[in-house]
Amino acid sequence: MEFKRKILCIGAGYVGGITMAVIADKCPEYKVTLVDIDHEKIDRWNSDRLPIFEPGLDEIVKRRRGKNLFFVKDMERAIKEADIIFVSVNTPTKEFGIGAGMAADLQFWEKTAREIKEYAESDKIIVEKSTLPVRTASAMERILSSGNKGIHFEIISNPEFLSEGSAVKDLEEPDRVLIGYKDTPSGKKARDEIIEIYAHWVPREKIIASNIWSSELSKLVANAFLAQRVSSINSITPLCEITGADISEVSYAVGTDSRIGSKFLNPSVGFGGSCFKKDILNLVYICRYYGLNEVADYWEGVVKINEYQRERFVRRMLDAMFHTLANKKICLFGFAFKANTDDTRESSAIYVAKRLIEERAHLSITDPKALENAKKDLKGIDVNVKYIEDPYEAAKGCDAIAVMTEWDIYRELDYERIYRDMRKPAFIFDGRNILDHKRLFEIGFNVYPIGKPELIHHEPY
Ligand code: NAD
Ligand code: UGA
Repeated sequence: MEFKRKILCIGAGYVGGITMAVIADKCPEYKVTLVDIDHEKIDRWNSDRLPIFEPGLDEIVKRRRGKNLFFVKDMERAIKEADIIFVSVNTPTKEFGIGAGMAADLQFWEKTAREIKEYAESDKIIVEKSTLPVRTASAMERILSSGNKGIHFEIISNPEFLSEGSAVKDLEEPDRVLIGYKDTPSGKKARDEIIEIYAHWVPREKIIASNIWSSELSKLVANAFLAQRVSSINSITPLCEITGADISEVSYAVGTDSRIGSKFLNPSVGFGGSCFKKDILNLVYICRYYGLNEVADYWEGVVKINEYQRERFVRRMLDAMFHTLANKKICLFGFAFKANTDDTRESSAIYVAKRLIEERAHLSITDPKALENAKKDLKGIDVNVKYIEDPYEAAKGCDAIAVMTEWDIYRELDYERIYRDMRKPAFIFDGRNILDHKRLFEIGFNVYPIGKPELIHHEPY
C-alpha cells in the first residue's frame, strides 16, 4: 500500500508508544513507525507482552501492528524514510554538573537531533513531543541547521497532555491539542500538516495553534498547575487531622465552587509519576536562571509540600506503632504511582518503602501490575522485602497495611479475613482515602486516613 505520509517517532516509551498507536489507529493512510535505542523494548512491542501496561493499548496495537504501525531498530533507515519525525525521548532531571537536581537533562534529546541531522536526506518536520524547557526548539534548530546539507527542518512543538492509566481515552478525546509553530510560510505549512493528522478525530476547535515558545511553556505550566492543586489539598490534611475537620468534606465544599472545580483535589500520600516533580523543578530552574527568584520559590513550594506529605505519612506510621518499626511487618497495598498503570517512576511508594526499610521494617508489597518495576526500584535494598501478587497472602501476619495506590481491588477485599490473619493490634494507613474507615474500625483495625482524625482502639491499661 502507498502511504500518504510517513511518520516516525523516536522514543517508544509511554508517550511515544501510546500516542503513535492512537495516531496509527485514527489515520490508516499514514505509515507510523517507532524506533528506540532500547532494542529489548522494540522486541516487546513486537510481541504479545507489550513493554507497558495501559488500558486499551493491547487491542489497538494488535489492530494496527504490521498494517500501518511498525516498531523497528534501524534508526538510519527509519530517519531517511520519514516525512514527519516526532521526538518522544525521555527528558529527566539532570543528575550531574550545573543544574543537577533541577534542570532538564537534554542529552537524549540532543543525541536524536544529531542523529536526524546525520541520516536525513530530505526535508522533514520535527515535532517536539517530549516535555522541554522553553526555547529548546531554537537549540534544536541550531543543531539541525549546522553544517548545512541543504535540507530544511521545520520544528513544531506538540506537547502531550495524556495521563497514564487513562492515556488512550485522553488521546482519543483530548481537552485540546497544542501545536506551536514559527510564524513563517514553512512554519505555517508544517503546522497545517500536523493539524491535518489530529483533525482525523479531534474537533477543529480543540486544536490550538500558538507561538512555539508559548507551546513549550504551556506544557510545563499545565503540569505545575495540576501538581499545585494536589499539593494545595495535601497541605490542608495535617490541619484536618489536628482539628477534627474532614478533608473529603473540605475538598468537596471547596471544589463545588465552579471557579475552582472538583478535579485534582484528592488528598494522597503525595503525587508521583515521572513528570510532575521534574517539570516543576525545570520551571523553577528556568525562573532562577532568569533571576525570577520569587517565582521560583513559589513553584518550588509545590514540590516541598509533596516531600513533606510523604515524610509525614511515614512519621505517622512510626508514631502510631509505638515509635518503632524495627522487625515489624508492613504490607504495602500498591506500588504504582497511580491506579491502572504499571509505572512506578517517582511513586510515593518508593519513598515510603525506602524509609520503612531504613526503620528496619520488613515489607510485603502487592500490586496487580507493578511488581516487576517495584523489584527494580528496590533492588539491592530488599533483603527483607517480599513481592506477593495476592493481597490476602501479602497481608498475612503483618502488623500494618499502608495503601499506596488507589487500585479498585483494594476497596473490595474481605477485610474481616485480612484482619483475622494479621498480628494485633492491626493498623491500616490509608494513603489514598479509598477504604471504608468506619467499617474497618468496627472490624478491629486502628485506622489512619489522610486528613481525617484517626480511629483508634484504646487498649485497656
Ligand atoms: P520513557 O522513558 O517511557 O520513553 C522514552 C524512550 O526514549 C525510552 O524508551 C528510551 O529508550 C528512548 N530513547 C532515549 N534516547 C533515545 C535515542 N537517542 N534514540 C531513540 N530512543 C531513545 O518516557 P515517557 O514517559 O514516554 O516520556 C517521554 C517524554 O514525554 C518526556 O519528555 C516526558 O516528560 C513527556 N511526557 C510524558 C508523559 C507520561 O505520562 N509519561 C506525559 C506527557 C509528556
Ligand atoms: C500528569 C498530567 O495529568 C498529564 O496531563 C501530563 O501529560 C503528565 O503528567 C505528564 O506530563 O507526564 P500522570 O502523571 O500520568 O499525568 O498522572 P496524574 O493523573 O496527573 O497523577 C499524577 C500523580 O498525582 C499521581 O501520583 C496521582 O495519584 C496524584 N494525584 C492526582 C493525587 O494525589 N491527587 C489528585 O487529586 C490527582
